[in-house]
Amino acid sequence: MISKATIQEIQNKIDIEDIVGAFVKLKRRGSNYLGLCPFHNEKSPSFTVSKAKQIYKCFGCGKSGNSISFLMELEKYSYVEALRWLANKYNIEIEETEATPESKIYQQAADSLFVINNFGQKFFSEALFETDEGQDVGLSYLKQRGFREDIIKKFQLGYNPVGGDVFAKAALAAQYNQDLLQKSGLVVLRDNGLKDNYRERIIFPIHNQSGKVLGFGARLIKSNDKAPKYINTPENEIYVKSKILYGSYFARVAIDKADECLLVEGYTDVVSLHQAGVENVVASGGTSLTPDQLRLVKKYTNNLTIIYDGDGAGVKAAVRGMDLALEEGLNVRLVLIPDKEDPDSYVNKIGATAFKEFVANNKKDFVIFQLGLSLAEAGNDSTKKATIVQKIAETISKITKTEHFTKRQDYVKQVAEMLKIEEAGLNDLVNKFIREKVQKEEGRQIAASNEEFANVEQEITENTGLENLFKKDEYQERAIIRSLLEFGLKQWNEDITVADYIFKEIDDNELELMIENENLVSILHLYKGWYLEGKKPTDENFLYYEDVTLSNLVINLMDSQTEISANWAKIFEGKIATREDLFREEVLSTLAYFKLRKLKKLIIENQKELENALSSEDQLLCLQTHVALKHAEQVITKELGTVIFRL
Ligand code: CTP
Ligand code: MN
Repeated sequence: MISKATIQEIQNKIDIEDIVGAFVKLKRRGSNYLGLCPFHNEKSPSFTVSKAKQIYKCFGCGKSGNSISFLMELEKYSYVEALRWLANKYNIEIEETEATPESKIYQQAADSLFVINNFGQKFFSEALFETDEGQDVGLSYLKQRGFREDIIKKFQLGYNPVGGDVFAKAALAAQYNQDLLQKSGLVVLRDNGLKDNYRERIIFPIHNQSGKVLGFGARLIKSNDKAPKYINTPENEIYVKSKILYGSYFARVAIDKADECLLVEGYTDVVSLHQAGVENVVASGGTSLTPDQLRLVKKYTNNLTIIYDGDGAGVKAAVRGMDLALEEGLNVRLVLIPDKEDPDSYVNKIGATAFKEFVANNKKDFVIFQLGLSLAEAGNDSTKKATIVQKIAETISKITKTEHFTKRQDYVKQVAEMLKIEEAGLNDLVNKFIREKVQKEEGRQIAASNEEFANVEQEITENTGLENLFKKDEYQERAIIRSLLEFGLKQWNEDITVADYIFKEIDDNELELMIENENLVSILHLYKGWYLEGKKPTDENFLYYEDVTLSNLVINLMDSQTEISANWAKIFEGKIATREDLFREEVLSTLAYFKLRKLKKLIIENQKELENALSSEDQLLCLQTHVALKHAEQVITKELGTVIFRL
């Protein structure tokens, strides 16, 4: 683990303008910097960087964070990777300390797997090029398929010899741990010994974004009915199939340049296209794209072009992932390779130039393509056609982001024409699906939140008309934490600070009961821990906190001040009051609303108990409780200075 001192040093050196500026062209605008948001597609800049606060925020897509979360989000780095990147940038030497036992074990396994994979990759490449068997069996096969040596070397292809345990022996001689070797998938335990899992296969190493080997695909050389064509690395600490796109390491620059990502099915397709000079290409491994893979694509471009063979099962698999792509705002196009060819065989058949032309001339919009396909299938069957209308409307309804409104309307127009139906009717249908989706999501949220709380919420809202104050379940939770972070160190009175006051007013148990958002509870605990240790915590302590969820939440909290300030548009010492001027009032009212919510909940619970109480003794107890709770409610309400409850 990276030591606290190193992290501190990195944090001291970090300059957000510097970091973000390495990826985004920034222009000065007042005290801030402005640029095109790297997280969503936009024409006019709404991505703002504040040097003073050392944070960024996009007013288009809402993403915000600090330098570290920027790197994590954009480069898909882990927290530690981001720190290492920064240390490297600022020439800071990293000091390591002991990690927690679990994370240490995990990290060690991951590190070792990378080392083993690196050893494997080198071994297999050497076996391919430097041994007679490799040349005769492996290299000749690859060459006969048309792969050039420079490309074979670039993709670090290799060969696992036939012996049965040639690799296993070498790995054991090099003292690699047996369990980890098995975990890597390179060897398997059979007949009490470690045997090569990929023997007599061509090896395709699979690289991560920084070129390290995550795992392998191993292809049979001689076709064999009994053995699978490919064996792939089993899921382990570093090989997580759903997050991997084969070739992304070699494609990223070209994807960026072309502003387009080509997606093919197989390893060989990627390698062949590279050889033909088409480098913006990745492979999914024949399965439908997962959300993580889509995100990986979206990191570089909004334009995804799928190149599959026309009659393969691949297209069907691809279709399944595509509603998600539309939702994410990707422009998906499809190119079908004819005549039972795949991209690899087709580019070998017709040559690089013709292939590029073919792709350019045969790109079809994915939605329109899908429609054409089903229409052809339906023929004159009007029932089938009605189903198609429903389906396509549902697909179009996935484009819900406001910035894609025109795109959706274009689809409605085109599709209505193709189906020979009224545009307005189709539009209504699309809107119906959008409404249904929104309702479903809302429904899910309500169901997920505690039902009683929802009732309390509603009751308070109805009774007070303070819809905005109580709109969000989390409103008071956030307000409390925010008050603590912002005003905690100020003096409440001569004796105690605001933090002391808040901790005195609400004890730990109560907070945990009341605050539903676990992240807010974590922030509170961290704050309290630091505070009691004698540190003087503020929101800044969270700015580079290792749990990025928490640091982003804090940034977000501190950012959302206007909602509150509207209620504080008072005159204070001759000027419009700021929240700063009125912090005591804010803390008091925040606490009061918070407590009211709790009281309401208790009152309802108590009422339920009363309904179920059997003995008159129990009933009396409940009634007394009711009176006490109502009294407390009245007191707080009075403190607030507004009568907000009908009693
Ligand atoms: N695949 C797999 N396991 C299999 C078959 C296929 O993991 N048993 C994955 C591989 O990632 C493969 C992709 O699906 O690259 C596409 O399969 P296929 O078209 O059969 O293989 P190609 O890569 O095209 O190999 P080749 O050109 O040598 O036939
Ligand atoms: Mn193929």
